[in-house]
Amino acid sequence: MKLAQRMSRLGTETAFEVLAKAQRLEAQGRSVIHLEIGEPDFETPANIVGAGQEAIQNGFTSYNPSPGYQDLRTVIAGDISKTRGIEAKSDNVVVTPGGKPIMFFVIMALIENGDEVLYPNPGFPIYESMIEFCGGTAVPMQLHGDKDFNIDIEEVRNQITSRTKLMIINSPNNPCGSIIGEKELEALSILAKENDILVLSDEIYIRFLYEGAHQSITKFPGMVDRTVILDGFSKTYSMTGWRIGYGLLPDSLVEPISRLVTNSVSCTASFTQKAALEALTGPQDDSTRMVKEFRKRRDIVVTGLNNIPGIKCAIPKGAFYTFPNVEGTGLSSSDFANGLLEHAGVAVLSGESFGKFGKGYVRISFANSTRNLEEALARIENFLKAGS
Ligand SMILES: Cc1ncc(COP(=O)(O)O)c(C=O)c1O
Repeated sequence: MKLAQRMSRLGTETAFEVLAKAQRLEAQGRSVIHLEIGEPDFETPANIVGAGQEAIQNGFTSYNPSPGYQDLRTVIAGDISKTRGIEAKSDNVVVTPGGKPIMFFVIMALIENGDEVLYPNPGFPIYESMIEFCGGTAVPMQLHGDKDFNIDIEEVRNQITSRTKLMIINSPNNPCGSIIGEKELEALSILAKENDILVLSDEIYIRFLYEGAHQSITKFPGMVDRTVILDGFSKTYSMTGWRIGYGLLPDSLVEPISRLVTNSVSCTASFTQKAALEALTGPQDDSTRMVKEFRKRRDIVVTGLNNIPGIKCAIPKGAFYTFPNVEGTGLSSSDFANGLLEHAGVAVLSGESFGKFGKGYVRISFANSTRNLEEALARIENFLKAGS
């Protein structure tokens, strides 16, 4: 069968491929520690599971409005207003099956052939994939590993052209765990306004912050009207498989994005939305406890990695990933990741899965138990010793 030409421009998320490979090894009886996939190792909190079960029993099993139930949109708008210090309106919230569709739909709705889109690199691989799939030109904004994975504003200024239509930012960032400082965020907001660029601000890791308070680009004057905030429930409430996320959209994008929802998935599962309502309105203790636990694990992993010869690891300020430089081991990112999985049973991702500026790095998720993380550190050390 001959696939449509556009399929040659569609990338993927390597995490799912490495997970499948690791599971094949496990099926052969090998022990594998999973540090590849970006999901909390905690169960969905019991109150949320209960609300989902109750919703199914109460008949919330049919279609619902494409942008989501009004009560959930209202609660989401309230939460965004509180966490970002802005006035978010429920009419501007569109609920989708995960935060990922917001990326796809926004890029699909805006980008014409040849339009340029700035995106973080290293960054979530789906940005580049979606930009190219939709006919856009992906322009990588480098996160500099030697500068704490910061963006260089002058570099970005020079990358902007009359075709630049969209800028994607992600703070806290996957895979680097870095955050965009207030000064840089303000500078980016000025560039967006001066050049009439829409911003897609992926804030899915907003609650996973280990230093300071979350800053959203929407806090700067005029930015609510030219920003899409992407957020969701997958990470904060350990709900990856429930599939629910949302966008806060400028007025003019609400109807087109809702129409894309109608055309693709119709709506987000009804009972999932009821569970999400409980997630935001119920007790937050489980989520708070999880973030506290992640901070402890971060410290264990960063200290452990920096004690291994050849590895240099910056301290992530947010999310649940470390992005150590492994050039000192003499191995390329992919040789490191492949060798570690095959010979030592630790699944991590090559930095190049996150774009060309990830060369020399690997991504190690610390969403795993302390025991497994300590075992993984020992296996990494032994793997490198055996190879030298
Ligand atoms: C940066 C980033 N944005 C968005 C998502 C999408 O998550 P979901 O579709 O589960 O809400 C992920 C998931 O890994 C992510 O890492």
